Amino acid sequence: MTAPACLIDRYAAHLPLTARTPRLTLGEGDTPLVRAPRLEQETGVTEVWLKVEGMNPTGSFKDRGMVVAVAKAMEDGATSVLCASTGNTAASAAAYAARAGLPCAVILPAGHVALGKLAQAIAFGARVVAVRSGFDGALGVARELAESGDGTLVNSVNPHRIEGQKTAAFEICDVLGDAPDALFIPVGNAGNITAYWRGFREAKAAGMADRTPGMFGFQAAGAAPIVHGKAVAAPETVATAIRIGNPASWAGAVEARDASGGAIEAVTDPEILDAYSFLARCEGIFCEPASAAAVAGLRQRAKRGLLRDVRRVVCVLTGSGLKDPDTARTLASSLVEVEATAAAVRGAIRG
Ligand code: F0G
Repeated sequence: MTAPACLIDRYAAHLPLTARTPRLTLGEGDTPLVRAPRLEQETGVTEVWLKVEGMNPTGSFKDRGMVVAVAKAMEDGATSVLCASTGNTAASAAAYAARAGLPCAVILPAGHVALGKLAQAIAFGARVVAVRSGFDGALGVARELAESGDGTLVNSVNPHRIEGQKTAAFEICDVLGDAPDALFIPVGNAGNITAYWRGFREAKAAGMADRTPGMFGFQAAGAAPIVHGKAVAAPETVATAIRIGNPASWAGAVEARDASGGAIEAVTDPEILDAYSFLARCEGIFCEPASAAAVAGLRQRAKRGLLRDVRRVVCVLTGSGLKDPDTARTLASSLVEVEATAAAVRGAIRG
């Protein structure tokens, strides 16, 4: 017998489902866990695994939580959903709302959402509103609208989102046979690190794992409120997905860090972009800049000699590189255009 195709069926025993919860699915979850030999070589860690969450239906980990949040919204008789987003939550909410037949509104920080994410929200038929603020201001507006009955909020402050996202930790334990020594993960609004920590604790309690990993979260240096213990008024980073100054799940991230014996640290934009291009060119995996923050953090800790007692690590690559074509283009010089002859093309290839 094959495993149930639907994420919420596969982990039903660990999710807040009832007989009335619709079995909504777009084929989310069950994403590849891929070994990274070049990173192993560089960092000296015996096993480095990449959880490729860009393989989810809308190209990011958000689909795991969104399928549960939208299914529960349907069960509760919601008439519309809304969210604030740096882009991926919006793309995911728009897709699952379309599937559920619910109208969706997404509130985005004007001028700071990667092109692919915007294209997705538009294609899935969401009402897209850009506000003149960063993500934190947009989330404030979304909360206010939800409180006054304008729609069901599907940001990660909706507890069903965290519940769905924790399934990634279950999958890692299932594939590896145990939790890794350490998990490396980017941190923005801090919902995902909160979700993984819950997932690993539940996996241990349920006998899917013998232990829990150290949780290592990474913020961009220009948007590192948890690292500094203080909200950042004007966060700035090339990794627009994590351009957040006052994370909603701050307390959850601190708990994951402290209870697991982990750390939350900053990586610079150049470190993020270097990891981004390393992953693409040396491992053949194209993730978005925010995802590369986790790998930038791994490389930074390796350089600082802080990985000596870890043997097996997992880095969470939260979203697909195709989300952000503009950043990809900055890595290359201009494209070469030549006459359509073998000689001209050979000359161009040889440079
Ligand atoms: N990586 C990507 C690709 C993201 O889109 C996000 C968050 C994160 C990492 C950080 O996860 O917020 O749970 O700590 N994106 C949100 C959004 C904020 O609106 O799409 P987090």
